[in-house]
Amino acid sequence: MSSYSSREIHLTSRPDGLPVAENFSMVERTVVPEADDVVVQNIYMSVDPAMRPPLTNGATKLDEPMASSAIGKVIQSSNSEFPEGAYVRHRLGFREISCVKADQLEPITTDGESLTTHLHVLGMTGLTAYGGLLVTGALQDGENVFVSAAAGAVGSVVGQIAKIKGCRVVGSCGSDDKVKHLIDDLGFDHAFNYKTSSISKELHVGLPKGIDVYFENVGGAHLDAACGQMRPLGRIPVCGMISGYNNKGARSEGVTTLSNMIYNRVTMKGFVVYEFADKQEQFLRDMRTWIADGKMKYSETIMQGIEQAPEALIGLFEGKNTGKMLVQLAQE
Ligand SMILES: NC(=O)c1ccc[n+]([C@@H]2O[C@H](COP(=O)([O-])OP(=O)(O)OC[C@H]3O[C@@H](n4cnc5c(N)ncnc54)[C@H](OP(=O)(O)O)[C@@H]3O)[C@@H](O)[C@H]2O)c1
Repeated sequence: MSSYSSREIHLTSRPDGLPVAENFSMVERTVVPEADDVVVQNIYMSVDPAMRPPLTNGATKLDEPMASSAIGKVIQSSNSEFPEGAYVRHRLGFREISCVKADQLEPITTDGESLTTHLHVLGMTGLTAYGGLLVTGALQDGENVFVSAAAGAVGSVVGQIAKIKGCRVVGSCGSDDKVKHLIDDLGFDHAFNYKTSSISKELHVGLPKGIDVYFENVGGAHLDAACGQMRPLGRIPVCGMISGYNNKGARSEGVTTLSNMIYNRVTMKGFVVYEFADKQEQFLRDMRTWIADGKMKYSETIMQGIEQAPEALIGLFEGKNTGKMLVQLAQE
């Protein structure tokens, strides 16, 4: 049985607020697979905001390899379903070589698209946007939609699906370049930089009739402004609240406008992507069609090398990514 040298990222101390590089370390070790392991050379790995709260609440263990979704090539296997040379997706990223049991692997078949798309627009963040907007958000054609963190992996897909459905779409993001990207490249009707403008005023300008669906990625001041402008029977699918993830208990700032939910009979509902497993096939069909038709565009911010993984994770909270934040670990 072969052994492999692999570098991996460990959490070595728990962050207080925004994580810093010193909370992590890179460890080199020799990996010895078990007989039934499929050994994967990871090529790309996903870095996600949801990884942040477990750094503080204890779910991510100290001095053990961290984990995230990854795509790689099988380099050793006795399993005919996952032969050597096959591309696979799994959840043991944050290391260069992963030893994975077959029931934890998904085969990746690319239909002309790049491998990386299976970690975002054709992967978890794409399905999050699709299910969150169409199922939880019950989007109707032609509605008024607001999405926060709109230039990120989930938000950019949400906005474009809403445009495909004939909606008026407004997005918020954290830089003027991202504002330009949302309007010029992704076809948003209005976008604004929440760091330099009033969220409430921008929503009045962009959606003068009010909001039918607010796709919530940020929480705090965003939710406060949006909730106060919801239309009758409006929906708020709650996907994430990244503005609070660096706080203890992932608590976001207070919201003062909830009474609008009463008079306008607004529904606010949290969801997790796993709820939409039954939509996977339809999602892939729709998304591949939209990409082929030029209606669904995507961006990626790809950092190079496992040593960049902590910076990539910290960068999510500094808005360093446009589209999906990824780390490349090996050449394709
Ligand atoms: N429910 C689920 O199953 C599920 C699944 C996936 C993701 N999510 C959630 O969806 C949201 C987006 O995730 P993603 O993977 O697509 O990440 P992303 O949007 O690609 O990256 C995070 C973005 O959030 C913005 N941001 C960071 N701190 C912020 C703050 N304090 N206030 C406002 N914006 C801030 C940054 O962009 P700016 O430059 O615009 O600030 C950053 O680029 C997150 O809340 C995540 O937890 C939920």
